[in-house]
Amino acid sequence: MSEARQILVTSALPYANGSIHLGHMLEYIQTDMWVRFQKLRGNQCIYVCADDAHGSAIMLRAEKEGITPEQLIANVQAEHSGDFADFLVDFDNFHSTHSEENRELAELIYTRLRDAGHIATRSVTQYFDPEKGMFLADRFIKGTCPKCAAEDQYGDNCEKCGATYEPTELKDPRSAISGATPVLKDSKHFFFKLPDFEAMLKQWTRGGALQESVANKIAEWLDGGLQEWDISRDAPYFGFEIPDEPGKYFYVWLDAPIGYMASFENLCKRRPELDFDTFWSKDSTAELYHFIGKDIINFHTLFWPAMLEGAGFRKPTAVNVHGYLTVNGQKMSKSRGTFVKARTYLDHLNPEYLRYYYASKLGRGVDDLDLNLEDFVQKVNSDLVGKVVNIASRCAGFIHKGNAGVMVDANPEPELWTAFQEAAPSIAEAYEARDFARAMREIMHLADRANAWIADKAPWALNKVEGKQAEVQEICAFGVNLFRQLVIFLKPVLPNLAAAAEQFLNVEPLRWNDHATLLANHQLNAFTPLMTRIEPAKIEAMIEASKEDLASSEAAAAPAGNGELVKAPLAAEINFDAFAAVDLRIALIEKAEFVEGADKLLRLTLDLGDAKRNVFSGIKSAYPDPSKLEGRLTLYVANLAPRKMKFGMSEGMVLAAGPGGSEIYLLSPDSGAKPGQRVM
Ligand code: MSP
Ligand code: ZN
Repeated sequence: MSEARQILVTSALPYANGSIHLGHMLEYIQTDMWVRFQKLRGNQCIYVCADDAHGSAIMLRAEKEGITPEQLIANVQAEHSGDFADFLVDFDNFHSTHSEENRELAELIYTRLRDAGHIATRSVTQYFDPEKGMFLADRFIKGTCPKCAAEDQYGDNCEKCGATYEPTELKDPRSAISGATPVLKDSKHFFFKLPDFEAMLKQWTRGGALQESVANKIAEWLDGGLQEWDISRDAPYFGFEIPDEPGKYFYVWLDAPIGYMASFENLCKRRPELDFDTFWSKDSTAELYHFIGKDIINFHTLFWPAMLEGAGFRKPTAVNVHGYLTVNGQKMSKSRGTFVKARTYLDHLNPEYLRYYYASKLGRGVDDLDLNLEDFVQKVNSDLVGKVVNIASRCAGFIHKGNAGVMVDANPEPELWTAFQEAAPSIAEAYEARDFARAMREIMHLADRANAWIADKAPWALNKVEGKQAEVQEICAFGVNLFRQLVIFLKPVLPNLAAAAEQFLNVEPLRWNDHATLLANHQLNAFTPLMTRIEPAKIEAMIEASKEDLASSEAAAAPAGNGELVKAPLAAEINFDAFAAVDLRIALIEKAEFVEGADKLLRLTLDLGDAKRNVFSGIKSAYPDPSKLEGRLTLYVANLAPRKMKFGMSEGMVLAAGPGGSEIYLLSPDSGAKPGQRVM
């Protein structure tokens, strides 16, 4: 191997307003496998990522949940980090774009671009929501399609007829946020002058940084002529204010890729051996790779290299683009239960099953990848359990029983050993080229040969023959050595299996070059099953749970019982039974307290006479001093289904009247009522 390389690798920064799903995991798993391969080879390879925390979607979602954006992104970051860790995605750093490092770097890059003349300003006319007091992005405007008259279409395209248009062409436009009719309003916007970089981009995109199909796509854009890029948004916006321009914010996509640098800079503070400039200065000899999905190519292959160039930083060595995940040949679907969240998968299945399946299907191209669930079960069971783990489990017992767990010094089939040695460079080359599918094919081909050889030698039969025990030990020691080879080759994909195998083999963490050696006269540890088969029932359970996920998230979006005041539509008339089905009770408010991170909620501890209940209620605005509520009686709906909220379980709800804000009036019974009494 040549001198150790210095490599910085990123995956796209996931938006901080939603959960990670198996589509995302296609990206993070492949990046992680590539990084682990580099580390296994002895290269210095750093893998950074972050949550993409800015933008109006995040601002509005926080508002809806009654928490601050900071609280929302902290919650989501904790969730994302847990998902990635449990899928064995081993970031050196997982940061946030809402960080001091990112603010400083975004300001630095912007001011350098501005001072070099690459920023233009001009007035833009846009729809504005007069009720909400904010400009509306296209997806926050709805109206009637100008082409086919379909109602309720978004501001830039019609889902019915596929037409694309300007939001101003929509008929009867409405704000999707407040419902108000938007008005046209002018505002000064800031533009990054992308055309200044046309020559550089033409060269860079053809210079080996991109897959050919991606480069061809970009050539079309370049030939069509580059446009200036609008990088500013007006307040209110959750992001960074533009230097010297109060009320103007960087558009989320301006500071998002800078988040790669910020995460690395943040890591440098913890790891003094790392130096920011070594990786990012214009003359850096380190390598820089971005892994991204095909939907965000333009940001990474046009805007980002141009920003880096204009601000005096190095450009990426390569941008590695992958396709989209489909499940059973179709787009992931919530109703079919194939829109599977990372956590739902983890609740049912081993992460290494999916890592292996993705590896076995991932080539260098940008084609979509299909997770066919039947094929998934079949492939994992036959390759990992049936071929790889099987070799060790067939051999280990004889070594433990026949030779006290000591592998003898043996190479009974030098030709097979040589075949494994000769495959190593080719497997490494496939990993390096991100042709994981080829690497897995070659590894499984070796596993087939190892299994065939052991089957042919049949140590289980030989062991019964007088005088053949020494030969059995040679066969099995060699078998375990072949298993060890396979583990080394698979270690980037299956880090947990490799760790368990290292424990069984009683060796230090394996490195790539260890494939050149044989274990001889070596004591093994006890063999424990390294991986079990996928049970198809687990898949069904995961799909069912994904349908449930949907049901509960829809319920959570409904107004009632989630701590908001109820604004549910009223039925014109209900019968007495429907009314009597509501279990109304008198409750004593034993404790009332603020909920950390919640703007609107109070946590109430209710005494029902024979039971205690915990309820979150959206009445904080009317009761700034919650202790005043303690000791008073109120009315309580006892048989409302409990609802899981961010802060805990809410069990039922208390009753109040009024329009909201400071005008919320909690109901009380006349004196004499007792906690737990039924209300009728
Ligand atoms: N926040 C932006 C990226 C900013 S990078 C400076 C973003 N976030 S995302 O959460 O929508 O997507 C993160 C990554 O996951 C993207 O590379 C995206 O292409 C990828 N995927 C999201 N859904 C996917 C599939 N269904 N299949 C494969 N990859 C998918 O974009
Ligand atoms: Zn239409």
